[in-house]
Amino acid sequence: MTTLIPHYPPLLSLFILLSLPILSLSQLPLSPFPSPSPNPPSYNLPTFNPRLADAFIALQAWKHVITADPNNITKTWWGPHVCNYTGVFCAPAPDDNNILTVAGIDLNHDMLEGTLPDHLSLLRDLTLLHLNSNSFSGVIPPSLSKLPLLFEVDLSNNKFSGPFPSDLLALPQLKFLDLRFNNFCGEVPSQVFDTAIDAFFINNNQFAFSLPPNFINSIASVLVFANNGLSGCLPQNLGAMNKTLNQLILQNSNITSCIPEDIGSLEQLTVLDLSYNNLVGKIPESIGNMKSLQVLDLGHNMLTGEVPTIICELESLQNITYSYNYLFWESEVCLNVEMLDDSENCIFWRPEQRFENECIDFLHRPPAQCDDNGCIAPPPPY
Ligand SMILES: *[C@@H]1O[C@H](CO)[C@@H](O)[C@H](O)[C@H]1NC(C)=O
Ligand SMILES: *[C@@H]1O[C@H](CO)[C@@H](O)[C@H](O)[C@H]1NC(C)=O
Ligand SMILES: *[C@@H]1O[C@H](CO)[C@@H](O)[C@H](O)[C@H]1NC(C)=O
Ligand SMILES: *[C@@H]1O[C@H](CO)[C@@H](O)[C@H](O)[C@H]1NC(C)=O
Ligand SMILES: *[C@@H]1O[C@H](CO)[C@@H](O)[C@H](O)[C@H]1NC(C)=O
Repeated sequence: MTTLIPHYPPLLSLFILLSLPILSLSQLPLSPFPSPSPNPPSYNLPTFNPRLADAFIALQAWKHVITADPNNITKTWWGPHVCNYTGVFCAPAPDDNNILTVAGIDLNHDMLEGTLPDHLSLLRDLTLLHLNSNSFSGVIPPSLSKLPLLFEVDLSNNKFSGPFPSDLLALPQLKFLDLRFNNFCGEVPSQVFDTAIDAFFINNNQFAFSLPPNFINSIASVLVFANNGLSGCLPQNLGAMNKTLNQLILQNSNITSCIPEDIGSLEQLTVLDLSYNNLVGKIPESIGNMKSLQVLDLGHNMLTGEVPTIICELESLQNITYSYNYLFWESEVCLNVEMLDDSENCIFWRPEQRFENECIDFLHRPPAQCDDNGCIAPPPPY
């Protein structure tokens, strides 16, 4: 079995960066990657060949549909030497070291406006496409799925719209897909969870979906779905993702369920953010088994009962938030966690708790019951 990741020396540093732990949503920079060096290495290879000729056609077609370029990035995009174009990175072709080809495009933070033309499929050796923080709009051309080596697609923080770009899921090498902060809408196709994608960001769009049964097939290490119309329940068998899942961020969705006991099997998980949902019931003790957990945010839900002390005893835990719930007990051990937000609960020996009446009313309501799928009907809004 040969390695599936093509090796392009100048871009190796980016591959290495990808393996670094990614920060939680609130700490995330818009791109986890720095821009590549402005002076990429040069090669003693002829600077013209059929692949670069195709790249020339693709890039000219693109330049043609770029409608605003206040930083004059595309001013360098003329003539046949596409490897000199700003934001375009060449390397020897992986299948033929004697020819140069376009290996990456990095136009992060360039204030470009316009669309993506179908012609991008002529960039047949492209591995990286970084367009983060521009004002590109329109839909993602299906022709992008014809790039067999493309493994990192960062379209974040643009004005792309339309449905989920499902065609990208056909990319055999795709490992990193970042669609966050755009105007995509509609379903997230369940096939995404049967791909080999390792980092999947779709937060801050208008997707409307629920976690499908094959969600647990995902081998991703990072899943960030926050601030979308994600509804439904948390799968009961989440623990099946215990080999790979490192960060799960479902903040500000519309999840209406109990927290499954099985979640405690996620022993690689470092960041779990389920805040701003409609979670009910108790905090499972099993979370105390998540020995890698560093950040836990369960704030703004309707959780009740006691905070299991074993969670606060986790050595890795640095930041725990369960504010704005109806919890009525926590151990003093929890006060030792580096960062704790336990406010607006019913823990009356602690400052900044709910009014007593509010707590009494809540505790007098029939307790929320979850069915075998972990789902409940949402209690009436308080
Ligand atoms: C881009 O080019 C235009 C016209 O040549 C010039 O007026 C403008 O200052 C340039 N912008 C930047 C950021 O260099
Ligand atoms: C671009 O690259 C070619 C080949 O390395 C070089 O001859 C040329 O001077 C460079 N600059 C421009 C502006 O074409
Ligand atoms: C990981 O998940 C598998 C499948 O659900 C389970 O059999 C195994 O016990 C889990 N491992 C841990 C350490 O929880
Ligand atoms: C949240 O989900 C419930 C039930 O699934 C639905 O009735 C409600 O409209 C959803 N709210 C939002 C803001 O999506
Ligand atoms: C701790 O977690 C809360 C909630 O997720 C977050 O708002 C806060 O920024 C975190 N603090 C640090 C220092 O990471």
